[in-house]
Amino acid sequence: MELLSTSDTDLEKAASALAAGLLVAFPTETVYGLGADAFNRSALARIFEAKGRPRFDPLIIHIAALETLWIIADESLLDKITAKRLSILSERLWPGPLTLILPKRKEVPDLATSALATAAIRFPSHPVAQKLIRLSTGAVAAPSANLFGRLSPTRASHVKAQLGDKVDYIIDGGKTQVGVESTVLDLSRGVPRVLRQGGTDMEKIEALIGPVEVSCSPPSDAPLSPGQLKSHYAPRTPLVLCKSGGMDAIPFAPGEGRLYFSQPECGEIITERARVLSETGNVTEAAANLFDCLHELDNLSLEFIRAEEAPCCGLGEAINDRLRRAVH
Ligand code: TXA
Ligand code: MG
Repeated sequence: MELLSTSDTDLEKAASALAAGLLVAFPTETVYGLGADAFNRSALARIFEAKGRPRFDPLIIHIAALETLWIIADESLLDKITAKRLSILSERLWPGPLTLILPKRKEVPDLATSALATAAIRFPSHPVAQKLIRLSTGAVAAPSANLFGRLSPTRASHVKAQLGDKVDYIIDGGKTQVGVESTVLDLSRGVPRVLRQGGTDMEKIEALIGPVEVSCSPPSDAPLSPGQLKSHYAPRTPLVLCKSGGMDAIPFAPGEGRLYFSQPECGEIITERARVLSETGNVTEAAANLFDCLHELDNLSLEFIRAEEAPCCGLGEAINDRLRRAVH
């Protein structure tokens, strides 16, 4: 594995590697992605191997130009209302942390979509991601660059620690800004449905296209979206979840680590083993720090981590979703 910078020379090197079928981890505004050319079957197969990811878990295909959408999605299968919703959302919320599920073209390899009739497509806003995608083949399949089920990476060092030599290159673009994965919105069947809460909050989506359903838990048969699995995004250290403000009254146990949402009322509790997501209780800032703080606490060899829920507004929903799935 070689670590690269975000210089033009390094990005060109990474883009050629992608086009040649190698794996490149790169920063996006949400979390780091583990990229492969979306049309190269052996590179796609290596993604599943490197992550230990089951083949039934489809990948997101990243694009960096709106026209590329039609290499992946099949326009002829969109009804009028879906086409309208897509045009509004892609115009207003792309590039950004929103993934859209659309009927796919048959040329898209089954490995990228787990043989579903749909594909997940995202246009990231991170300039490094955009440049890399444009310089390579224009369509890059990339799950989060972590081992399956584990914490998502918000820094190049997290990718290195989990995937190391299983990837060819890691581009170090510093800490990611949004900090939680993209919101996954299914536009492929009737009423739009959020399959994963994430970096774009629902209010924003509903203000543009009207009511959407939320279905972030799996149906009783096969999961629609494995990010819906009950245990996912988990640290190795066991995690216990408390209601907002619920930790203040509980004495700090030996071997306990704490993840506060905001600065606790009772003042100076802060030890080596505690982290605060946002001093001022800002949900956007808290989301940006969530995986970073969990990675830090997870590296302290603690017996358990006690974490506090975020308020249910804006990105607070995405934070709570990740925390619930981190309990195992
Ligand atoms: O922010 C993000 O979305 C990051 C960065 C790297 O872009 N990527 C990411 O990918 O989180 P991943 O693979 O960890 O999560 C993709 C989610 C999974 O829960 C997957 O099941 C779902 O999207 N998904 C992909 N294709 C789908 C499809 N056709 N139908 C339903 N869900 C799908
Ligand atoms: Mg993931």
